[in-house]
Amino acid sequence: MKRTILIFLHFSICIGTFFHFLSHANSQLSAQEQGILLNLKKLWGNPESLRHWIPTNSSSHCSWPEITCSNSSIIGLSFRDYNINGTVAPFICNLKNLTTFDVYNNSFHSKEFPRALYNCSKLEILDLSQNYFYGAIPDDIHRMSRLRELSLEGNNFDGNIPASIGQLQELRKLMLISCLFTGSFPQEIGNLSNLEELKLVDNSKIVSTFPLEFGKLKKLKYLWMARTNLIGEIPNTIGEMEALEYLDLSENNLMGRIPGSLFMPKNLRIVYLHRNNFSGEIPHVVKALNLDVIDLSENKLTGTIPDDFGKLKHLTSLALFLNQLSGKIPDSIGHLPGLVYLGLFNNNFSGSLPAELGRYSMLEKLWISTNRLTGQLPEHLCDNGKLVEVIAYENQLVGELPESFGNCSSLELVKIYRNNFSGNVPSGLWTSSNLNMLMLSDNSFTGELPERLAWNLSRLEMNNNCFSGKIPQGVSSSRNLLVLMASNNLLNGTIPQDLSSLTILLLDQNQLSGSLPLAIDSWKSLNTLNLSRNAISGQIPEELGSLQRLSELDLSENQLSGLIPSKLGFLNLTSLNLSSNHLTGSIPSEFEYNEYAHSFLNNPGLCANRPSRSFNLENCNSSQKGSSLNFYATIAGIISLVVAVLRGLLFLFSLIRKNKFHLTWKLVSSQKLSFTKSDILSGLIANNLIGYGGSGQVYRVVVNHSGDIVAVKKIWNNRKLEEKLEKEFLAEVKILSSIRHANIVELLCCISNDNSKLLVYKYLDNWSLDHWLHKKSRATIPSSSIDHVVLDWPKRLHIAVGAAQGLSYMHHDCSPPIVHRDVKSSNILLDLDFNAQIADFGLAKILINEGELATMPAVAGSSGYIAPEYAGTTRINEKIDVYSFGVILLELTTGRKANDGDEHSSLAEWALRHIEDGKPIDDALDEEVKELCHLNEMCHVFKLGLYCTSTQPSTRPSMKVVLKVLLQCSQPIRND
Ligand SMILES: *[C@@H]1O[C@H](CO)[C@@H](O)[C@H](O)[C@H]1NC(C)=O
Ligand SMILES: *[C@@H]1O[C@H](CO)[C@@H](O)[C@H](O)[C@H]1NC(C)=O
Ligand SMILES: *[C@@H]1O[C@H](CO)[C@@H](O)[C@H](O)[C@H]1NC(C)=O
Repeated sequence: MKRTILIFLHFSICIGTFFHFLSHANSQLSAQEQGILLNLKKLWGNPESLRHWIPTNSSSHCSWPEITCSNSSIIGLSFRDYNINGTVAPFICNLKNLTTFDVYNNSFHSKEFPRALYNCSKLEILDLSQNYFYGAIPDDIHRMSRLRELSLEGNNFDGNIPASIGQLQELRKLMLISCLFTGSFPQEIGNLSNLEELKLVDNSKIVSTFPLEFGKLKKLKYLWMARTNLIGEIPNTIGEMEALEYLDLSENNLMGRIPGSLFMPKNLRIVYLHRNNFSGEIPHVVKALNLDVIDLSENKLTGTIPDDFGKLKHLTSLALFLNQLSGKIPDSIGHLPGLVYLGLFNNNFSGSLPAELGRYSMLEKLWISTNRLTGQLPEHLCDNGKLVEVIAYENQLVGELPESFGNCSSLELVKIYRNNFSGNVPSGLWTSSNLNMLMLSDNSFTGELPERLAWNLSRLEMNNNCFSGKIPQGVSSSRNLLVLMASNNLLNGTIPQDLSSLTILLLDQNQLSGSLPLAIDSWKSLNTLNLSRNAISGQIPEELGSLQRLSELDLSENQLSGLIPSKLGFLNLTSLNLSSNHLTGSIPSEFEYNEYAHSFLNNPGLCANRPSRSFNLENCNSSQKGSSLNFYATIAGIISLVVAVLRGLLFLFSLIRKNKFHLTWKLVSSQKLSFTKSDILSGLIANNLIGYGGSGQVYRVVVNHSGDIVAVKKIWNNRKLEEKLEKEFLAEVKILSSIRHANIVELLCCISNDNSKLLVYKYLDNWSLDHWLHKKSRATIPSSSIDHVVLDWPKRLHIAVGAAQGLSYMHHDCSPPIVHRDVKSSNILLDLDFNAQIADFGLAKILINEGELATMPAVAGSSGYIAPEYAGTTRINEKIDVYSFGVILLELTTGRKANDGDEHSSLAEWALRHIEDGKPIDDALDEEVKELCHLNEMCHVFKLGLYCTSTQPSTRPSMKVVLKVLLQCSQPIRND
């Protein structure tokens, strides 16, 4: 018995020591692991973000947020956004149990792939993305045989992607986004039989076909290969990826037919194949019944919409625009319960629209313009009260507009010009509470204009219809209406007196009568006035000559009589027509130039003081000789004599004042041009107007037979510049037109006279940044086909970098530095690839006295961008541009307008308060582009915007620094 007890005792002591020994060993290992961490911290220069790594004597490091442990042994290190600037030390692999190493978005750097990590024999998850690693992926990458996730996104890795990557059999996720790889994608990737996510997007140096072998990726759910220079055809094996849910091959150079197997994978939900060169028909067999988004737009597809699309109960978005598709839109599309967006514009669709469209789904956007559609617009489009945009112009649609349009308050945009609609416009549509543009031209609408218009309506186009009745005061004076085009209708009554904000008023070819109103103060925004071919009588009021912004005036083919007010000669007109009236007396001397040879035709009582052959007008001096018995001519002669005397006096007077009334245009440039002054001047017509507001109007002008296009910015200045200022301005033009930089809009020349300046720039296709960011201001773009694109975050960042490059160049590489003084999103122009170019360097503002800055309507568009010190001092430096640029960064990240914080604050003030109130930055970011994978970049850029908009100029960074920071955010452009 004793013996048994003894043995038992002995035994339990043994066990005790054993356990004791074990726990001792464990804590020793633990201490070793902590030591490794502390060495790392030291190696990385004790970064602020690891301040809490303080040595302790237990395994407490397991509770540090960066560390994951299992059984007190470290298995995971994660330093996402830790602002660490360091290298990957080989001794990391002394953490024998390490499975995860994640350094996403830091400043880790290395000339080559950190092969030291091969010694981390248990490593499963490796995330090196958004750092500064260089070099190729090594050929023996397969030695990391346990890898389940590998992300190298946003580094400077280059060279060929090695075939051996296909041996990483455990790999579930492979992310090789935005690097500098060359060659093509190895077919061996197809051997990764466990792969679920493959992201190869934005590898612009690769040229590759779509590997046939990808069909073997049976578990692949997510395939993202947009913008990777894919060429050739997609192999039919694509349909063999049976687990596929998300497929994005957009913006490549793929061609040929879309394989018939495309819609086979049963769980496929999202398909983006837009912007390629696919031809042939859309695959007609659809097994993927959960499809949610199909975007095949901007290809060369032919044939019809597959009937099978009518089975897609979850389809919300169908984009097939800019193809060559034809046939009838299947009726079944009208029954889809999820359909929100239907984009079919610029195809050859014919037949009538599905009658039930809008009845069963929350339809928001119907974009079907430029097809050959017939029949009526479906009655039910707005049944669910969500319809926002109906873009149906250039079809053959007939009948009345659906009655329901009169009760559809969600509508913002109705563009249905060039159809065969008839009947009255539903009365509720005119006043629909959100309506911004209503374009009805070239139809057969009848009925009268309403008493008032939707308060927000900025553009009403109704040329070439059968509208009749008077023009109610409430229409012409509508507060936000900028454009009213009503040429060629049956309107009668008198010309409206009150025009409020109108810049373009076309009422030609109607039955308007009475005389022109005299009190026309409210006409001062007018740029274009066309009242020709009516029955307007009486005299031309002198007040017309005070409309400083007027540049096109057509009063031809009316019953106007009396003298032409000499004040009209002061206007800065690009086109004038007073032909076919009963005007008498001499024409103002400013018009005695060949440009105006056809402006005064068929007015028998008119004469000229210096008649020329091209003019065909009597000489005012000779017409009194009495050889003609024409009564009018006699009267005219007397009058013109008086006028001549007056003019003589005026001329003397003007000589004394050293003031020339001649509106001769001078051209200044420092390069050879492919066009002449008159090419430009003759192009300044309403049809070419693409923007107005701010400091002037902008025209798009095709200048010669080879189709060269320029943008002409016309700057108003009501008074003549002081000589010194004028010289300064022209000197600046000379400098600027000699500058060549990829991010500065090329200034070709300046054409100027005493009253205005025309700045002629190279034309860029993609408008300006504000058009993209703030859709409302796109009101000024007539029917643009780019309406549909949202400016995603990578594009926004790319634009920010470009603009920063331009500003930085002008500030730091020019001597003396050139300050812009008017940086704003409408001065950042974009080309087809969204490369930013800055316009208007330093010019517009020279024309404005500093003191007038706050009050001038000409700079109203700049409010929100102006640095606080600008108002108080005349000594400014480039830091005012940094401020304005900061505001642009805030616009890009928040999507808000510069002057739109809330009630009374600017965006910069709003952003600062947002932070001071302790609200998360996330909440301030633009919902439209906010995606998890960009959140960090967006936050960085937002913060940078705040720095740039510091009140104290001295605390704002220089553009050089701003550019550096932006480049760090933006991987693909980084190359230092
Ligand atoms: C790794 O984990 C195992 C199992 O939890 C443990 O026994 C071993 O001690 C750990 N290794 C190190 C170096 O901590
Ligand atoms: C792995 O560790 C061993 C021993 O410490 C070393 O000799 C070898 O160079 C390391 N391998 C790599 C790829 O760094
Ligand atoms: C003015 O209108 C008449 C028709 O009334 C036309 O013949 C003439 O060419 C027009 N002139 C200009 C400058 O457009």
